[in-house]
Amino acid sequence: MPARIFLSSGDLVADRRFDFARDLQLKGDLVAAADLLLQATELAPGFASAWFTLGDIRQRLGDREAAIAAFRKAQEVDAGDRHGASLRLMLLGAASISAMPQAYVRALFDQYAPKFETALVDDLGYRGPALLFKAVLTARHAIRKPAFFKRAIDLGCGTGLAATAFAKEVDHFIGIDLSPRMIEKARSTGLYEQLQVADMLEGLRGRPEASADLVVAADAMVYLADLVPVLREVTRVLVPGGVLACTLETHDGVNVVLGEGLRYAHGAAYVRRSIGDAGLTLSLLYDSSARNEDNAPVPGLVVVAAKP
Ligand SMILES: C[S@@+](CC[C@H](N)C(=O)[O-])C[C@H]1O[C@@H](n2cnc3c(N)ncnc32)[C@H](O)[C@@H]1O
Repeated sequence: MPARIFLSSGDLVADRRFDFARDLQLKGDLVAAADLLLQATELAPGFASAWFTLGDIRQRLGDREAAIAAFRKAQEVDAGDRHGASLRLMLLGAASISAMPQAYVRALFDQYAPKFETALVDDLGYRGPALLFKAVLTARHAIRKPAFFKRAIDLGCGTGLAATAFAKEVDHFIGIDLSPRMIEKARSTGLYEQLQVADMLEGLRGRPEASADLVVAADAMVYLADLVPVLREVTRVLVPGGVLACTLETHDGVNVVLGEGLRYAHGAAYVRRSIGDAGLTLSLLYDSSARNEDNAPVPGLVVVAAKP
């Protein structure tokens, strides 16, 4: 899911050079495209889209240092980093792993919202909500408790696929998501009692203590580098015995890495430690992939935890 956003430079000639450069890029003439983009940035030094695209092309041309320089400029001239230049710097090993820019996530999913369900479910075989539903039933069955929840919070609710999967087992759903367009889609399902456009950490902070019986996050915590702050808030808002269920992407290493798909992958040991540090008790953690990429399942984890 590449975020291809265009931010006008405000200079007509520079914008036109950018358009020509994109045509050349699409035709495969990367050298000529890079040359035109450089001209565009000379005309409009604050032209974030040109700097970002230049970084992308230089990377494809194998010029790592020049790509890093262009991505740094893209980041510098757009304080919100809507193109996600900082992520490209992380992938290139030129920046340490840190949080994803909120403006980037919002731009990505606002742009993606109209085609989200067909692209994810049909094209990538997305199955996150179904995996969570099955895992929650299994975890509740193991402790002989009903899998029925009065109040649930759906973190990174997107268009509402998780609420759809849990609809029969939950009385009231609250959805929180950074993207207004995804929230509009979620609203149209009629499944949520409340919907909030917010970062999930901020959204949780605004909720009363012990006010939820279930928190789900389907394919949403993959956009968080550090899981602990959100997990701590989840613990605070859950009632004792309340349940957290989330999918994650994973890797064989120990901590957190950013994958080529620009989502974070959390090592299983890191997840176990984070769950414990947040004051939750792990009920289930197993390998299961929520989506495919390049026709292969992306390594993933399904996690269910409970507040003691
Ligand atoms: C891949 S979609 C999954 C949506 C939905 N949970 C589902 O299963 O279909 C990820 C969603 O998480 C949201 N998101 C990512 N980071 C977020 C954050 N820090 N706070 C709130 N929402 C976030 C995105 O806007 C997007 O709608």
